[in-house]
Amino acid sequence: MATKKTIAIIGASGNMGSAIAKSLANAPYRILLFGKEEAKLKSLFKEIKNTNKKADAEIIGCAADASWEADIIIAAVPFAAEKDIAEKIRQVATGKIVISISNPLNETYTGLVTSSDTSSAEELQKLLPHSKVIKAFNTTFAGDFSQPVINGKTIDAFIAGNDEEALETVSDVVRSAGFNPIKAGALAVSRTLENMQSLLIQLSIKNNYNQVAGWKILHN
Ligand SMILES: NC(=O)c1ccc[n+]([C@@H]2O[C@H](COP(=O)([O-])OP(=O)(O)OC[C@H]3O[C@@H](n4cnc5c(N)ncnc54)[C@H](OP(=O)(O)O)[C@@H]3O)[C@@H](O)[C@H]2O)c1
Repeated sequence: MATKKTIAIIGASGNMGSAIAKSLANAPYRILLFGKEEAKLKSLFKEIKNTNKKADAEIIGCAADASWEADIIIAAVPFAAEKDIAEKIRQVATGKIVISISNPLNETYTGLVTSSDTSSAEELQKLLPHSKVIKAFNTTFAGDFSQPVINGKTIDAFIAGNDEEALETVSDVVRSAGFNPIKAGALAVSRTLENMQSLLIQLSIKNNYNQVAGWKILHN
């Protein structure tokens, strides 16, 4: 039997961090919760345990300690906070998978603050040169995690990265969260994936999707 992997969620008190934590706590992973707001983390922990007594979850008071114990680190923080987080976890994240979920949106949600020749995932990879940065979960809304199947169709969740084994591992994580993983290509494909979510956010605002919406490729 494969050993259970440990996933550290940095920013677990946020919308995405808590949605990912609740979802993955029902899968065979050990989940380490790190966030700045202890009260929110305690209430998240309580909710996880109330839903699933057997959930293997723990609050950890330090991003570096959580990352040190983890096989996979999820940076569930805003793009602007990633530099700060990278500095805290760089040493202990060597050789590990770091999942970039961020969309570097501008203040009006009409586009991205990054230039067209990069992406937030590639910027995180530069900050963590010895880690395997994989883009995932940026094209799914936090609200989708409690409802990854809409109108009978499982939402596609796109993944990008440069390490084939890490892409496989993250595909399993995405599948465990209830989404259909699609390996979209190398890490540079994150430029497209981040623009896709920018568009979906704008459409969600315009068409009142209430941030429960996702992408689906129809094929035979
Ligand atoms: N919301 C979505 O539907 C969605 C969908 C796809 C991708 N994303 C991406 O997911 C990321 C998180 O978004 P969100 O909506 O979950 O935001 P959020 O609710 O504001 O949560 C952000 C989390 O990051 C923490 N944080 C901020 N700065 C930090 C720092 N310097 N050190 C440690 N923790 C820090 C926050 O803690 P405090 O609250 O204590 O500051 C909070 O726990 C963003 O990059 C976003 O682009 C969001």
